[in-house]
Amino acid sequence: ADTLGSAAAGQGRYFGTAVAASHLDEAGYVSTLNREFTSATPENEMKWDATEPSRGNFTFGAADQVVDHARSQGMDVRGHTLVWHSQLPSWVGGLGAADLRTAMNNHINSVMGHYKGQIHSWDVVNEAFQDGGSGARRSSPFQDKLGNGFIEEAFRTARAADPAAKLCYNDYNTDGVNAKSNAVYDMVKDFKSRGVPIDCVGFQGHFNSNSPVPADFRANLQRFADLGVDVQITELDIEGSGTAQANSYADVVEACLAVDRCTGITVWGVTDKYSWRSSGTPLLFDGDYQEKPAYGAVLSALGGD
Ligand code: G3I
Repeated sequence: ADTLGSAAAGQGRYFGTAVAASHLDEAGYVSTLNREFTSATPENEMKWDATEPSRGNFTFGAADQVVDHARSQGMDVRGHTLVWHSQLPSWVGGLGAADLRTAMNNHINSVMGHYKGQIHSWDVVNEAFQDGGSGARRSSPFQDKLGNGFIEEAFRTARAADPAAKLCYNDYNTDGVNAKSNAVYDMVKDFKSRGVPIDCVGFQGHFNSNSPVPADFRANLQRFADLGVDVQITELDIEGSGTAQANSYADVVEACLAVDRCTGITVWGVTDKYSWRSSGTPLLFDGDYQEKPAYGAVLSALGGD
């Protein structure tokens, strides 16, 4: 029988999952992870609050656990994430503009430097745009003190820090064509036209009944790919159960496979029991690591059996 990873590989794609270091001592978690997935994203361990809790003091223990495990299994690693308004230690928000710029670049250089050569793709900047119809940037210490240029600066710093890593912009509610994805599209188009280094755009893919898989998901992925970047589905989970959930998962996989530059899919966790959606059952394996209908739908959409 195929696995998610082997079936995806047959399509020239990776199939990944978010991984939490705290579960790597659980046999069922590890055996499912190792068997099914070819890419790993540390769920929280590479975020700023985990890696630089106080200025200049870097702590990589938990992230190293995930990276070392993944690499020992031959998995790719997605780095998540360098510059984000959330899980940001309070000291960062207290800095003035000049200091903040220095701290941002130092954070990128230090974290990317620690993992240089080991990361397939980095989410350099995460969730920098607002929800709603404005297409505006989200308020954050970076946006408010450094202005729109912080994103470009972060990508330029990242390119120099690890030239082998693909550099991604990652966001949610950008899966379909809407005001927010239009704003990201305009930014990527501008970056490509001016030679700002960007290699990929991540579409998180957090879906539920209020935010279902959009009918124009494939078309949206394609328009970004046509700008000359790879696209990746980076944090997929879909609330629901049974056939409806399975069909939605199949729709996502089919959309990715229809876009040449959609290079892989990551689901946001191995098992429902550890999902960040505490009320939900959004993943492919249940709490006993049994395959759900959604698992079969994904495998079959990937051409596996
Ligand atoms: O590590 C502490 C622990 O020491 C403490 O005892 C416990 C008590 O609350 O909290 C633990 O931290 C939690 C952390 O996950 C690790 O489990 C945080 O409270 C909790 O807020 C945090 O949630 C994470 C969330 O990002 C935070 O924004 C989720 O696990 C993680 O799945 C989620 O992932 C994000 C992506 O990074 C970006 N896109 C959206 C996605 C879903 O929100």
